Formats: sequence, structure tokens, C-alpha cells
Amino acid sequence: MKCHRPSCPVTVESPETERFLALKLFCSDECKRDFHAPKDREDKIIAARARWEELTPAVFKKPDDGRSPVATAIVADALKVAGDKDLLYIVGPCRSGKSRSAYHALKRFLMEGASAEVGQISDMSLARYDEYADIADRLKHCGVLLLDDMDKGVYTERFSQLIFSILDWRITHSLPTLVTANVSIRILEDYISRNAPQFAKPISSRIAEASKVVEVK
Ligand SMILES: Nc1ncnc2c1ncn2[C@@H]1O[C@H](COP(=O)(O)OP(=O)(O)OP(=O)(O)O)[C@@H](O)[C@H]1O
Ligand SMILES: [Mg+2]
Ligand SMILES: [Zn+2]
Repeated sequence: MKCHRPSCPVTVESPETERFLALKLFCSDECKRDFHAPKDREDKIIAARARWEELTPAVFKKPDDGRSPVATAIVADALKVAGDKDLLYIVGPCRSGKSRSAYHALKRFLMEGASAEVGQISDMSLARYDEYADIADRLKHCGVLLLDDMDKGVYTERFSQLIFSILDWRITHSLPTLVTANVSIRILEDYISRNAPQFAKPISSRIAEASKVVEVK
């Protein structure tokens, strides 16, 4: 019986029972993998879409009305052209479409097979201390991370330490991170220095070094 992969000419020995059960016989693992590859790709795309649906608030799923000055493509491509930069710092005024653009950039990463997580900074700074280890574990290791509203945290010492450990890990391991904020990195440093002076410079300098800054008007 011929190998089940259409383009393969190899003949496979098939025992009577298997012929009776009409099993798909392949001459090798390579042929088997190749035969199933399109289905695997399709499954991955379906899974990536489902993950984006799960991560993304409904308002950002509405179709583009052309209003945002940062097109999805620009945000998505920014990290690639940035070369050695692993962090995209999207800064601009309220309601300018930063979060929406970032979520759509996230979709691109998901479609390319990356795992993704979102850290909403204002929610994160309300977390209990005993939740920190789980949060750090989840946000450190994902393929791409969105930290939304970076300047909306209450930067206590503990919270600053959490943010420092996540950013330090990701930057050291060259894992891409998207950040949105209403203020510059310099002003973010001032916010942190109010309650956690020892973390202000370490956080802001890491962000500044790793960042490509995109300004939304
Ligand atoms: N290009 C667009 N097409 C459709 N809706 C958009 C577009 N840009 C922004 N919006 C909508 O406008 C609102 C504000 O956008 P978004 O939340 O992304 O702004 P932001 O810059 O993150 O604001 P903030 O600084 O307050 O967090 C959202 O409801 C968003 O869905
Ligand atoms: Mg936002
Ligand atoms: Zn074969």
C-alpha cells in the first residue's frame, strides 16, 4: 500500500488487519507530520484568535475607525525595526488609542505563535502581597507582555519591587514587552521615587535603555 502522504511514492507494508481497519499508513514520521501540518497550523491560528478574544476588552475589538494615529501595523512592526530594543513604550494623552493599538499589536504576536499576557497596572497594584509570586511568574515568562497604563500604579516599595523583577527578567532574557503610559519615562521615575526611591532609577533606566518610544499625539 502506498504511503498516505500524497506526494510520497514509497510503498508501505500493511498487515491484513490494518488494511481491514483502513488505517492511514505512512512510510515515516516525517510523512505523517507533513500530512498533518496544515491542520496543526489551522489549530494554532484558532487557538491564537481565542486567546486574543480572551485577553482583550470588548471596546478594543470594534473595527478600526481610522482615528488612532498609531496604526496597528506600526506598533507591531516597531519592535521588529527596533532591532535590539525589547520594549515598546507607547506614550500619549488619554483616549488617544494607545491601549487599542497595543492589544492589536499583541494579536500579531499571538498569530506568530507567541504566548501573551496582559498586566493592567492599576489592577495589579491592588493585588494582595501573597498574589505577587503568581503574578511575577505569569508575567515574567510569557512570549510577549502588555503592561497597560504604566503610570496608573500606586508604586509602593513592594509593588515597585514586583515591577522591577518582571522588567529586569524580561529585558535580561530579551522578551518583548509593550508598555502604554500617559507620561514620559522621566515622569514615571518621579512617580516611583515618591514611595520607593530605591527602585525609581533602576526601573526607569532599564525601561529607557530597552525602549523604543512611540509618541501618540
Ligand atoms: N482607531 C480606532 N478605531 C476605533 N476605536 C478607537 C480607535 N482608537 C481608539 N478607539 C477607541 O477610543 C477609546 C480610547 O482608546 P484607548 O483606550 O486605546 O486610548 P488610550 O490612549 O489607551 O487612553 P488612556 O490613556 O486613557 O488609557 C476606546 O474605546 C477605543 O476603543
Ligand atoms: Mg489605555
Ligand atoms: Zn511517505
